[in-house]
Amino acid sequence: MDIKTKAVHEILQKYKNRRSALLAVLQDIQEKYNWLPESALRMVADELCVPLIDIYSVATFYRAFSLTPRGKHLCTVCLGTACHVRGAPTVLDRVQEKLGIDPGCTTKDKQFTLETVNCLGACALAPIVVIDGKYHGQTTIQKVNSIFSEIKTSKESPAKTKKIKKKK
Ligand code: FES
Repeated sequence: MDIKTKAVHEILQKYKNRRSALLAVLQDIQEKYNWLPESALRMVADELCVPLIDIYSVATFYRAFSLTPRGKHLCTVCLGTACHVRGAPTVLDRVQEKLGIDPGCTTKDKQFTLETVNCLGACALAPIVVIDGKYHGQTTIQKVNSIFSEIKTSKESPAKTKKIKKKK
């Protein structure tokens, strides 16, 4: 991917090249590119005088960051215990069938990235599928079908703001 040096510089300048703004800088880069390209991280390391390994530590700590290109829509299926016993594996099978990809992958057209998680902290709604930050509780195979039909007909952009969560 072609990284616009100017865009990354602008993000850094927005935070006045402050080291303490590292998280905010990474969030802005993630929002701009939908992932954290290595070349951008190298620029951040140089400009903020922070070792690249420290930047990777932060980037791999939070689920909101991705070191590989993500699709336009992020689909997360919870496979925690509550979701699992209420049918999450079947729901995940249906989502995989719909998208034609395994968890951790992105569709060839770059429309969807599929991820799994071990608990979203909303077990009463199990099984849960989250798409672009929107929670879909008590998900069934039929509900998966209608969710994806809705997305395909919707012209809205996915939610840009994603809550920062630690990776497990
Ligand atoms: S197990 Fe899925 S939300 Fe807790």
